[in-house]
Amino acid sequence: MSTVVAIDGPAGSGKSSVARAVARALGFRFLDTGAAYRALAWLVGERGGSTDDEATVVGALDALATLELSVDASGERVAIAGHDVTRAIRTEAVSGAVSGVARVAAVREAVNVRFRELIRDAEPGIVAEGRDITTVVAPDADVRVLLTASEEVRIRRRFGDVGGDEVAVGARLSARDAADSKVVDFLSAAAGVTVVDSTDLTFDETVEAIVRLVTEARDHD
Ligand code: DC
Repeated sequence: MSTVVAIDGPAGSGKSSVARAVARALGFRFLDTGAAYRALAWLVGERGGSTDDEATVVGALDALATLELSVDASGERVAIAGHDVTRAIRTEAVSGAVSGVARVAAVREAVNVRFRELIRDAEPGIVAEGRDITTVVAPDADVRVLLTASEEVRIRRRFGDVGGDEVAVGARLSARDAADSKVVDFLSAAAGVTVVDSTDLTFDETVEAIVRLVTEARDHD
């Protein structure tokens, strides 16, 4: 049986980098579920549409079969409709548009099927991160973590990522979390989910804390 580690948390909690490092430390696969939502948001824009329009977003699902999500922790690649969008999905334009994709129930159901297949097939284990992994995608995961950090620290960490005006970056981050948390609750931990608050932890300490949870879960098996 492979080991499944589910990590949820808000934007800027350092989730992706931490989850990838945990996967590397354990020799596991890595799944960034947000990349699927971002790839669909990118495609809507590429086709000249807006993610504010639900019918347009649902229309983009015709390309779901072409979505490639690699689960290689040493360098994920994301492609859709024949385009390598690994870098393009990280722009502020996509970040600004992606909540419009994430709130569509038909999208969530469709991508969740893909996520569950990838998780099921991963050997010897996988770290999957997002907003609803501990609750919807993999509620039976061996280890379930809600990774949090104070808003101030999250904005500071993100500021280094995108540059620009810190106040504007903070406002956009908060707006995205506010929109996304109306769709799935990733701000409070569901029963059985361990909260790891990284506010006062270094990156390495955060990774170690989660690796320790995985080791402990294995020892209890
Ligand atoms: O983690 P991220 O910033 O790359 O996620 C991009 C968007 O996708 C985010 O605004 C919320 C959404 N998302 C989601 O609703 N459920 C997930 N499991 C992962 C991401």
